[in-house]
Amino acid sequence: MSPLLHMIRTRSALRPISRVGAALVAALALVVLPGCSKLHQVFSLSGPQSTMLSEGPVARAQWDLFMVTVWVTTFIFIIVGTVLAYAQIKFRAKSEADEHAEAAAEAGHGNPFVEIGLIAGSVALLVIIAIPTLKDIWYTYDVPQADVDSGNAMDITATGYQWWFKFEYNSETVKLPTGGEAQLTAANELVVPAGTAVRVHLRTIDVIHSFWIPKLAGKVDMMPNRANHLWFKADKPGYYYGQCAEYCGESHAIMKFRVIALSPADYSKWLENQKASARTATAQTLAAEAQVPHVSFASLKNPGRGDTFAGSPEFDANPFAAWHAQQKPEAGENAAQIAEGRKLFAAKSCVNCHTVRGHEGGGVTAPDLTHVGARSTIAAGVLENTPERLHQWLNNPEYFKPGNKMYHGVGAMKGYLDLDGNNQPIRGADGEYVRNIKLTDAEIDALVAYLHSLK
Ligand code: CUA
Repeated sequence: MSPLLHMIRTRSALRPISRVGAALVAALALVVLPGCSKLHQVFSLSGPQSTMLSEGPVARAQWDLFMVTVWVTTFIFIIVGTVLAYAQIKFRAKSEADEHAEAAAEAGHGNPFVEIGLIAGSVALLVIIAIPTLKDIWYTYDVPQADVDSGNAMDITATGYQWWFKFEYNSETVKLPTGGEAQLTAANELVVPAGTAVRVHLRTIDVIHSFWIPKLAGKVDMMPNRANHLWFKADKPGYYYGQCAEYCGESHAIMKFRVIALSPADYSKWLENQKASARTATAQTLAAEAQVPHVSFASLKNPGRGDTFAGSPEFDANPFAAWHAQQKPEAGENAAQIAEGRKLFAAKSCVNCHTVRGHEGGGVTAPDLTHVGARSTIAAGVLENTPERLHQWLNNPEYFKPGNKMYHGVGAMKGYLDLDGNNQPIRGADGEYVRNIKLTDAEIDALVAYLHSLK
């Protein structure tokens, strides 16, 4: 036998090495753990997309089922581990002679009582998992009949686009300025009443996406040519993070959304405002409106891209309050600049893809912007909706969301823009970099003022 194999078989020679290894790991843990807030975040399990803090009945059912499985498998692990450890210790080779011993000529055939007992035990454990599993499959499939009967249910159609979400309120219509009616449409922020069961019809315009609100429900795929749905209910008013959970292209990981649950009274107010056409801010209306202090917020901290995505601490502390503040007109609105922005919105071909209902635009391939100024995030939940962020986004959407159609609408990319808008050619490419829409800083400022006036 080789010395190494002998060491592994008998273990004794490895003991000093494993002792040193354990000491090293322990020392490393002592040095690294306390100073590493990222690790703390991971182990505290309390992030905004933690499934362990369920805040609605569907997520709670899913969590409870998960825990049933954890307990059953922990039980199996302990039993099997104990038997294995016992066998390892009791039957280990105690001498050279033991190691080279021949196997017994006739192995035993076991004890029928033990074997049948193990089969029965395994079946029982599977049944313990199966019963709540089947119950939850039924429960999470659709809104409970009691909620439907009591009128405590609503329907939303969510459509996945590369890389954002469209939300249509199935039973809410809006009057179109051109005459006729359409469904109320929003993008990336789904506002619902708390305590109401929400059935979400899941659709996609292009590839397979997946709809997931970790604290409320999930996740179900949005598939071409397949009518999937899920439902959720938020226990109480709050601000919830959502995320596409199926790889769908370059910007999959930053295809996010938010669910904002409001009290019924707040929801009615919100709905009324959403149904109204876009707000027109003129010098007269601005003078008439009470000015409120501006609140900036944060959405995402992305260590991988330095500080680019980071925002203010206010949002992290209380995104729900930040969302509320965002509903009000901002201080220092400039009517002339807003009017200029509105002109540019039409002239710079934004209208081809976007709609500002009551103003200009009839595009349906990009997010509806009628009330974009009242959203807490832009770019599908990736950036806080502050003037600074919106400016950066319009200046160079590709930097924040690779492959997005606002940037790539026409032409082929032969390089990329850095955050300052400077052309950085891809090495080896010979042609000019081609961009869909070119805007000057002043034009972007005007567009930002206009879009932020749309409360
Ligand atoms: Cu959409 Cu991943």
